[in-house]
Amino acid sequence: MREILKINNLTKIYKNKLKALDHLTLNILEGEIFALLGPNGAGKSTLINTICGILNFDQGNITVNKFDIMKNYRQARSIIGIVPQELNLEAFETIWDNVNYSRGLYGKSPNYEYIEKLLKDLSLWEKKDNKLRELSGGMKRRVLIAKALSHEPKILFLDEPTASVDVELRKDMWEVIKRLKNKGVTIILTTHYIDEAEEIADRVGIINNGKIILVDEKESLIKKLGQKILKIELAKPIKEIPKKLTSFNLKINTEKDTLTYIYDTKGRNTGITSLLSEIKSEGLQLKDLSTEQSSLESIFLNLVKESENELVRS
Ligand SMILES: Nc1ncnc2c1ncn2[C@@H]1O[C@H](COP(=O)(O)OP(=O)(O)OP(=O)(O)O)[C@@H](O)[C@H]1O
Ligand SMILES: [Mg+2]
Repeated sequence: MREILKINNLTKIYKNKLKALDHLTLNILEGEIFALLGPNGAGKSTLINTICGILNFDQGNITVNKFDIMKNYRQARSIIGIVPQELNLEAFETIWDNVNYSRGLYGKSPNYEYIEKLLKDLSLWEKKDNKLRELSGGMKRRVLIAKALSHEPKILFLDEPTASVDVELRKDMWEVIKRLKNKGVTIILTTHYIDEAEEIADRVGIINNGKIILVDEKESLIKKLGQKILKIELAKPIKEIPKKLTSFNLKINTEKDTLTYIYDTKGRNTGITSLLSEIKSEGLQLKDLSTEQSSLESIFLNLVKESENELVRS
C-alpha cells in the first residue's frame, strides 16, 4: 500500500520548553485504520494537531499525499479532516447549518445531497434542525465527525472518538469508522481502549514521551495482549533462580522474594502446573500467588522499559 502521510523527524517544543514530540517518524498507509495508543500526556493530540496545522512545529517535515504541510498548506489541509478531542461547538447553530458551513470553509461548493447522506449515515438526520446545545454528548461527537467529513477528506483524524460515550454508541462509532474505511478514507485514531484498537485497527502505534516506541500489525499486538503475569511470592528470599527453573524465563524482583512468570492465556499450555511442581521439588516455599492481566497499561510500561533498556544496551 502507498504511504499517504509521512511524518519525518518531527519535534515539537511548547513555549514552556516541554518537548511534546521528539524526533518522531511515522508513515501511514493509504486506506488503513491506524490506532495511536499512549498514556495521558504521551503526545497523541499534539501529533494530530501538528499534522493538521493547528499547531506549529520546530523540526522535521510532514507530507500529506505528497503535499508538504508547510509549503503547500492549503492542498495538504484540504485532504484532512479532524475530529478534535474537545467537544467545542457553536451552541446556537443547527446541525444542518453548522455542517454545511464547515464544508464552505474549505472552499468547496455546497453539496446538500452529500451532507444529507452524511447526516443520515451518522444517524443525525432526524436532529438536523436541532440546535447544537440541545444534543447529547454522543450526538455532539457525531456532529464533529460530520463536520470533519463535510469537505470529503481522504484522511480522517479522530482524537479519542469514543471517550465518554456509552457502549452502544461506541459500537455505532466503530461501524461508522469501518464504513469510512470501506469508502477508501484513511483513518488515524487515538484511544485509551485496547478493545477499540482490537476491534477496528489494522495497525497500532504506541507513543510515549513524544516518541513512537512500537508500530505493529494489530494481530501481533493482540498476541502480546494475551499474556498474563503470575506473581509468586516466596516465604524466604532467594539469591538466584535455581537452575532447574531457568527454562521458565522467570524474573526475580529486587527484594528477591518474588518471582514473576509471563504466560500466554491463549496458548494450550500455560506451563503453570509444571512450574509450580518444579518450585516444590526445589524445596522453595510459597507465601502467595497472584495473577495480573497484561493490561494496556502494563504493556505500555513493559514496552517503555524495554525501549529504555535497549537504549542503555545500544
Ligand atoms: N499548550 C500546551 N503548552 C504546554 N504544554 C502542553 C500544551 N499542550 C500539551 N502540552 C503538554 O504536552 C504533552 C503532550 O500532551 P498531549 O495533549 O499531546 O497528550 P495526549 O497524548 O493527547 O494525552 P491525553 O491522552 O491525555 O489526551 C503533555 O505533557 C502536555 O502537558
Ligand atoms: Mg489527547
